[in-house]
Amino acid sequence: MAMNHHINRETCEQCGLCVEICPNHILESKENKDIYFREERLSLCIRCGHCMAICPTRSVVAPGLSYEKDFFDLPQKDIDSEGFFDLISSRRSVRRFRKKPVPREVLEKIVAAVSLAPMGFPPHKVEVTIVQRREDIEKALPLMVKFYEDLQNWINHPIPRFFMKRKLKPEVFNTLKNHIVPMMKIKLPDMKTGGDDFITRGAPVLILFHADRAAESHSEDSFIDLTYGLLAAYALGLGATAISLVPPAVERVPELRKMFRIPDENEVMGSMIVGYMVRRFKRGIRRELAHVSWI
Ligand SMILES: Cc1cc2nc3c(=O)[nH]c(=O)nc-3n(C[C@H](O)[C@H](O)[C@H](O)COP(=O)(O)O)c2cc1C
Ligand code: SF4
Ligand code: SF4
Repeated sequence: MAMNHHINRETCEQCGLCVEICPNHILESKENKDIYFREERLSLCIRCGHCMAICPTRSVVAPGLSYEKDFFDLPQKDIDSEGFFDLISSRRSVRRFRKKPVPREVLEKIVAAVSLAPMGFPPHKVEVTIVQRREDIEKALPLMVKFYEDLQNWINHPIPRFFMKRKLKPEVFNTLKNHIVPMMKIKLPDMKTGGDDFITRGAPVLILFHADRAAESHSEDSFIDLTYGLLAAYALGLGATAISLVPPAVERVPELRKMFRIPDENEVMGSMIVGYMVRRFKRGIRRELAHVSWI
């Protein structure tokens, strides 16, 4: 059962671990070694649950969290760092998929991994929508194509282009001008005549990340969630790619919002495609960051 900040003095062993771990120094040890929550600092509690995650006797409780519902025991072993680096160095964006649905239990594991991602302020604000059937993705594609045709027309016309340049962040405008619009010029006519689906790449599954547009840190959280999703998919033997073409279309086209049941107040931040890979890559690619400074 969830309760307010609480210490069970009958079971507390006064080890002081909760005092040491709390990021905001909300707990303290009195002279008699009894542990207390500092009343004047309770408002600083971010419900991170660290005090509960470390307590050997389950004696400390933070509001809204319960040992039964919110915690699980961790295996007490070292993390396999080599395995982790093997995973991240061999992951690639996958854009060729087998025509095979991904079972719900496997998708649930991806969702479980996403739910383990860090967030700016607990609890999670990000919602995920899993489009599990290729048929539903295919119903949405003509609306996405229409959205990008309209966008192409606006940006190619000097007056809308002027206003878009003023209104959009330079990052977004440059992505549109330098990448999306030139790509659309070739790929839209191709896709309309039965060519390659360059938006969702024929994937059997599409996952959308969205959140109340007023929710704290939801933009950053969405992309961290998406990254966890990509890595989890790969660890489960699937291929996945982040897709930035889908969110702007779903965000702005009411039929798409309705189709994917996105609540009106939510902003669609990210999307990823998932499916079984046609081929495995034989080599990784070395990449360098734009710049690394050591200070
Ligand atoms: C934020 C973001 C958006 C992306 N959007 C797309 C997309 O719309 N379509 C696509 O095919 N790939 C997309 N990608 C995949 C990148 O093109 C890919 O990560 C990059 O080429 C590096 O390749 P790698 O992931 O195989 O290392 C996106 C990646 C990120 C991080
Ligand atoms: S939940 Fe986190 S912030 Fe709140 S008391 Fe426990 S350790 Fe401190
Ligand atoms: S971690 Fe648990 S046992 Fe240790 S002092 Fe805090 S409440 Fe008591």
